[in-house]
Order: sequence, then C-alpha cells, then structure tokens
Amino acid sequence: MTDSSRQRVALALAINGRRHRVTIEPSTTLLDLLRDELGLFGTKKGCDMGACGACTVLVDGRRINACLALAVMQEGRDVQTIEGLAEGEALHPLQQAFVEHDALQCGYCTPGQIMSALGLIGEGRATDAAGIAEQMSGNLCRCGAHPNIVAAIAAYAGA
Ligand code: FES
Ligand code: FES
Repeated sequence: MTDSSRQRVALALAINGRRHRVTIEPSTTLLDLLRDELGLFGTKKGCDMGACGACTVLVDGRRINACLALAVMQEGRDVQTIEGLAEGEALHPLQQAFVEHDALQCGYCTPGQIMSALGLIGEGRATDAAGIAEQMSGNLCRCGAHPNIVAAIAAYAGA
C-alpha cells in the first residue's frame, strides 16, 4: 500500500483554544499530530514509549503522555500544550517560577514538566514538596534539575 492510498480519518479538536480539523492516518499519535501535522514543536519527543514524560500535555485538564495517545481518540477534546501558556511576551507564572528557581538546564524536559505540574496542581495534589516530587516522578530530567523543578512548582502552588 502506498502512502497516498492509506486510509485517513477526519478529526476535530481544540488545541490551546483554537479549533482544528485535520485528516490523519488512524495510527497517528497525539504527539505526532502536534509536532508533525500542526508544527507545534513545544511538546517534546523523548522516549516515544511512555517512559520519560517529555510529551506531557493536558487533555480536558488531565495530564497524559501524548506519545501513548492516539490522536483519533481526542475527537472533540480540549488539548493544552506549552504553546498556550504565555501571553505574548509575558510568561505564565509557572514558567516564570521555573526561570526564577533555575529549574532547567538543557530545557528539553521543561515543557512536559510544566504541563505535568499544571495537571498536578489542577488535581489538588501539589500540597508539599515531597508529594510534588512523588507526583512528578513520571517526568524525567536527564540534567538532574529535579530539586529546582520541585521548588518552582511548590512556589507557584503555594505548597
Ligand atoms: S516521549 Fe512520551 S513519555 Fe517519553
Ligand atoms: S533540563 Fe535537561 S532534561 Fe531536564
């Protein structure tokens, strides 16, 4: 079967408040939809197998690994990515907290860390540093910035 003859399916969803209609191959992951189809490269691909958290986005307010989610399953849903946080030049307060707490080095894990943290806070479980560290354990940082990441999240959450 050639690429041009592969069956494609229609999908409608909102990303960062903007409605999108696309036609995609059924096997397309949400991560590949964001990056390859829509050019939203802020969501990172690390392991592509659910182990690192670099691809974390919010779907209807809940954090998920976009590399493990089929795009077609997101019909009608509201996806939030790192691109939706800043308003013009003004960083989201959690992004600002990451800067102030020196919570990134290479920055590759940072979008996933921030989206996961927003999901965690939305779950009402960012109550103390130890709990934040545990609840963020699915988001790995190869640079070892975890202590500062936890500090930034705790500061923003008032934990
Ligand atoms: S790229 Fe999705 S969990 Fe690693
Ligand atoms: S800042 Fe480099 S992987 Fe986390």
